[in-house]
Amino acid sequence: MKPRVESFFHEATSTFSHVVFDHGGGHAAIIDPVMDYDAPTARTAFDSAQRLLDFVRAHSLTVDWILETHAHADHLSAAAWLRVHTGAKVAIGRGITRVQERFRDVFHLGDGFAVDGRQFDHLFDDGDRFGIGTLSGRVIATPGHTDDSLTYVVGDAAFVGDTLFAPDTGTARADFPGGDAATLYGSIQRLFELPGDTRVFLCHDYPPDGREPSAVTTIAAQRERNVHLAGGVGEAAFVRMREARDAGLAAPKLILPSLQVNIRAGGLPEPEANGVRYLRLPLNHVGSGA
Ligand SMILES: [Fe+2]
Repeated sequence: MKPRVESFFHEATSTFSHVVFDHGGGHAAIIDPVMDYDAPTARTAFDSAQRLLDFVRAHSLTVDWILETHAHADHLSAAAWLRVHTGAKVAIGRGITRVQERFRDVFHLGDGFAVDGRQFDHLFDDGDRFGIGTLSGRVIATPGHTDDSLTYVVGDAAFVGDTLFAPDTGTARADFPGGDAATLYGSIQRLFELPGDTRVFLCHDYPPDGREPSAVTTIAAQRERNVHLAGGVGEAAFVRMREARDAGLAAPKLILPSLQVNIRAGGLPEPEANGVRYLRLPLNHVGSGA
């Protein structure tokens, strides 16, 4: 089963969103859609999500699912906006409840903020199956980058989130709360058990100079050439490498707005008495020294 996949690159955050579908006029899932967000003015926009919507409309697709691979810390999700415009169900891994609990406390959202995942329409567990028209998908839990990270496998296509980057850039950081380098290594070993010709669709690409962003690679290319794993790198060496690299990384620019929106399934906080919605900035509470 070879589903059709169209990938869209969001330049400002180097994020790929994907539309996977069975055939024109058929059914689709949208994976990891991005909300445009201008940090200096805190203005939101949906031009990028509109491109996804234009694509599914041009191909007369019924969108069954909006799938998040994890609670992203580098971009805001457009899932809630696309849910309104498509009627699709928004889903993420059940581990989102732990992420919600953690960031309810960081942002001091209080008991009024539910941490049972109810902002989403469906929570997936490892091994779950789902349908997209004539396509069938399955879920592989791939924690490590975050503890809610999932891979969605649809036919020969695997949507791996940030569990793998392109072979020449390796793997994503594992130092967020709930992240763990050894767990990430184990999740990648599970993905390496997929057939070598499995298409691996990435959530990000940060290409070196001279290479265009690339949305897709294969399990065989990852096994043979991933700079963090190829040549039989063992767990201990991987963990040492990953933790040393992570120690030098700055926090993602949009981590605070992203998490406040993404734990709400891409929804914004309710307006306050003056009709304005606000995000919070906890001072001296996140990042190094916290
Ligand atoms: Fe991520």
